[in-house]
Amino acid sequence: MALYSKEFEVKARDFDSAGEVSSNLRAILKQLSLAPDIVRRSCIVCYEAEMNIIIHSYGGTIKIEIFEDRIRIIAEDTGPGIEDIELAMKEGYSTAPEEIREMGFGAGMGLPNIKANSDFMDIKSSKDGTVVVAEILF
Ligand SMILES: Nc1ncnc2c1ncn2[C@@H]1O[C@H](COP(=O)(O)OP(=O)(O)OP(=O)(O)O)[C@@H](O)[C@H]1O
Ligand SMILES: [Mg+2]
Repeated sequence: MALYSKEFEVKARDFDSAGEVSSNLRAILKQLSLAPDIVRRSCIVCYEAEMNIIIHSYGGTIKIEIFEDRIRIIAEDTGPGIEDIELAMKEGYSTAPEEIREMGFGAGMGLPNIKANSDFMDIKSSKDGTVVVAEILF
């Protein structure tokens, strides 16, 4: 059972709120006195998942669950989904349009960063939505 659980809404193209969920997460984890490396990795995972919902999806949610031995981050959106997950996981692969790249996003590093900073990652996608689950072990 989760010791702590909270769900945040993430709106599509809402760049004014970008990073809000990961900032909230940072505050929560610091309050729990978790190791700086755990906080750092969790926030990277959360931030990249949050940005992907903002940039690439129709909107969704990020759920944070904290257990005795791990933190779980579940990012879920309502589409349009990722056609080729294997390709999307490759460093440097991005479908971000020019205006998004001008904002400094679209390096194609978000999903590889989530993978690199988590101990477990699962991604499922269809046209109805994408679900990314990542865990960081204490
Ligand atoms: N939630 C999502 N919904 C739909 N497509 C997604 C989603 N997340 C990622 N993708 C697709 O996977 C590609 C790779 O994602 P990734 O996060 O690695 O890179 P990026 O978002 O394009 O750039 P960066 O994260 O470096 O700013 C995206 O360009 C997009 O095509
Ligand atoms: Mg990304």
